[in-house]
Amino acid sequence: MKVLLFGKNGQLGWELQRSLQPLGEVIAVDFDSEALSGDFTQPETLAATVRTVRPDLIVNAAAHTAVDKAETEPEIARLINAAAPAVLAAEAAASGAWLVHYSTDYVFDGSGSQPRDESAPTRPLNVYGQTKLEGEIAVAQGCPRHLIFRTSWVYAARGGNFAKTMVRLAGERERLTVVDDQFGAPTGADLLADVTVHALRTLRDRGDAERLAGLYHLTAGGVTNWHGYAQFVVETARRLCGPLKCTGVDPVPSSAFPTPARRPLNSRLDCHKLKDTFLLNLPEWQLGVERMLHEIL
Ligand SMILES: NC(=O)c1ccc[n+]([C@@H]2O[C@H](COP(=O)([O-])OP(=O)(O)OC[C@H]3O[C@@H](n4cnc5c(N)ncnc54)[C@H](OP(=O)(O)O)[C@@H]3O)[C@@H](O)[C@H]2O)c1
Repeated sequence: MKVLLFGKNGQLGWELQRSLQPLGEVIAVDFDSEALSGDFTQPETLAATVRTVRPDLIVNAAAHTAVDKAETEPEIARLINAAAPAVLAAEAAASGAWLVHYSTDYVFDGSGSQPRDESAPTRPLNVYGQTKLEGEIAVAQGCPRHLIFRTSWVYAARGGNFAKTMVRLAGERERLTVVDDQFGAPTGADLLADVTVHALRTLRDRGDAERLAGLYHLTAGGVTNWHGYAQFVVETARRLCGPLKCTGVDPVPSSAFPTPARRPLNSRLDCHKLKDTFLLNLPEWQLGVERMLHEIL
């Protein structure tokens, strides 16, 4: 199998570079790759890349993920999150390749307190969520052989993320203040990458792979809020590294930290469809966060 991976140096792209290897030959590109274009702000150039590589499988880990910045550059966010995936979908459909794409809990408005499944109505609150939703639709409508995984609160040992920021601040400040009214599940890029390959192996081994195409929710198990997540990170860092300057984490509502982009309060995703279809167990979120902290500390 020949695999073409876009966005190879992001949190998820980096883990996919590892996890995809056993499937076959992996050609991985980023936005500044020299020989093959992987620049999602120029969607039309991606068609040439697909036609040159002629992959059996395209995996798209590239995205405009700067949620607040997207509010002031919606055209660029739309090119990267929607127009470019639409080109990949058209190219995959034309060549019979499978396309794997990732999306977000931010397609929802976050009302209520129940986990949402794949059939729940979407209503993004911000430009990032809106453009990611447009990308999902373009992939689903443009390429029958697709897998779209919606996930939340992604972290990795590589790159910057909330947990790493908390570790740094816990060494610098006596008190941390973190919002406690946004709920979801921190999800490791390594888990996303491993589940992606598990699903792809299942497709490869099944005669009726097309029936498994579609949209799946994929997060780690359990639920927390950013305050609970921060507390877990600080306590684990203290256990691993010894005393920290920080003596505690104080909860505040989201209204205490106004941001350009509104965030959904309820990011809980119901992952039963994924677990039942691919016979998977999704570990509790603490397991992956603790492993990541062991690695970086
Ligand atoms: N991060 C989260 O909390 C989160 C939550 C829910 C869903 N997701 C989704 O999960 C997927 C993976 O996210 P992630 O956390 O791995 O994001 P990430 O670390 O921000 O990686 C995104 C990658 O896309 C690249 N990129 C940016 N602009 C590009 C362009 N014009 N052309 C080509 N590549 C470009 C980035 O390059 P640079 O780093 O050089 O800019 C980066 O390598 C995305 O679909 C995202 O929407 C993420």
